[in-house]
Amino acid sequence: MDNMQEYHLIIKCLKEIYSGKNLKEVILKVDDNKYRNKIKNHCYQILKNYYSIKFILTRLLKKIPNQDVYLILQMGIYEITYSVKPPYAIVNDLVNLTKKYNGKYKNLVNAVLQNYLRKKDLLKQELIDYKVGANLSNWLSDKIIEYYPNKYEQIFNALNADVKITLRVNKRKTNIEKYIEVLEDNEIEYKVLNNVIILEKENNIINIPFFADGYVSIQDSAAQYISDILAKYSIQPKRILDACAAPGGKTCLLLENYDLDLTALDNSQNRLDKIKENLNRLDLNCKCILADAASKDWWDYNKFDFILADVPCSAIGTIKKNPDIRVNRLETDISKFVGLQRKIVVNLFDMLETNGYMLYVTCSILKDENEDNIKWFSNNIVGFELITDIQILPDLYNDGLYYALIRKLSK
Ligand SMILES: C[S@@+](CC[C@H](N)C(=O)[O-])C[C@H]1O[C@@H](n2cnc3c(N)ncnc32)[C@H](O)[C@@H]1O
Repeated sequence: MDNMQEYHLIIKCLKEIYSGKNLKEVILKVDDNKYRNKIKNHCYQILKNYYSIKFILTRLLKKIPNQDVYLILQMGIYEITYSVKPPYAIVNDLVNLTKKYNGKYKNLVNAVLQNYLRKKDLLKQELIDYKVGANLSNWLSDKIIEYYPNKYEQIFNALNADVKITLRVNKRKTNIEKYIEVLEDNEIEYKVLNNVIILEKENNIINIPFFADGYVSIQDSAAQYISDILAKYSIQPKRILDACAAPGGKTCLLLENYDLDLTALDNSQNRLDKIKENLNRLDLNCKCILADAASKDWWDYNKFDFILADVPCSAIGTIKKNPDIRVNRLETDISKFVGLQRKIVVNLFDMLETNGYMLYVTCSILKDENEDNIKWFSNNIVGFELITDIQILPDLYNDGLYYALIRKLSK
């Protein structure tokens, strides 16, 4: 694949992402395995730096050109700022690329990129002065500042940190000590924090030893916190409903640690297939049902003693791994998620035994989806008792997740 083909593919992927798709699903459609990672990284970096790039382009353009040309300019600003390729080669390649899309814009692309080369340092300072460096939409950075007046800078840094692979060891096949020996034999740098293995440099799943054999899974360390909660409150679940289960990270964690009668539910067939893939790889088993957690259509009226409600949410806490959220998540989405979360929890609460536990989880750091929802549940659901809640903020090693442990009291 030559440079031009790569650029074409990046433009194609970015167009799909800007139309609302996520990076992970778009990248899977790139046929060429060998280049998929490279194209993914390029798109990832452009999305990660989207607001800085956009800011720079508003300083260099009188008006926004058509989408293809605007994307070419985004790639140019990104490459000139962050890549090691010589600037003259970048400008040359991108002017040639413009000719293939719409020749009449080649002079514009050349002029804008040359102008950027001249003003780079000045614009870098402006990014600092105008606090664009967090690379978030205005509504989102305002909300984070409002909710975390003393911690927002730390959150911004965490959301912009490099992604590190974190592993969960499958205790049915191995243990941390033995798996660490394997990493050492393979000269893979790691650190262990709170029973989670963090790979310091490795970022390709293909190089993770015994991954295909089900010895380990990739799972964020905050997502593994569910084990700590169950242990701390001495909860020994038996009949579990994992109501929004795909791709099955927490489902598999539970099955690796407890002997369970577990039902995993998800309303997306594609995503339910991912749970099955994970179960197969890890040699685990449970019932998988395609169904809506906000409905009772699928239920046999046998109650559960533990319900995991890892509800659909804005996923703001995972922006580091899902940079498309920076661009595609709208402020108006939040109230839609809140409405769905309430509908799901109200419905699931009927399926819980008296004295049974529900663990409400989001990968959001917005109070709307977390503390505010808990207040709403306790005012609107009979028998609802909050045992504890914790907001894990994103940091260098983990995503931001919220957990609320709830018990069902007799009415
Ligand atoms: C945050 S993810 C769950 C992550 C999963 N628990 C894990 O640890 O890997 C939320 C899931 O809810 C599913 N979902 C969204 N709306 C749903 C609904 N109404 N009923 C059931 N599942 C739903 C989505 O398809 C998505 O897979």
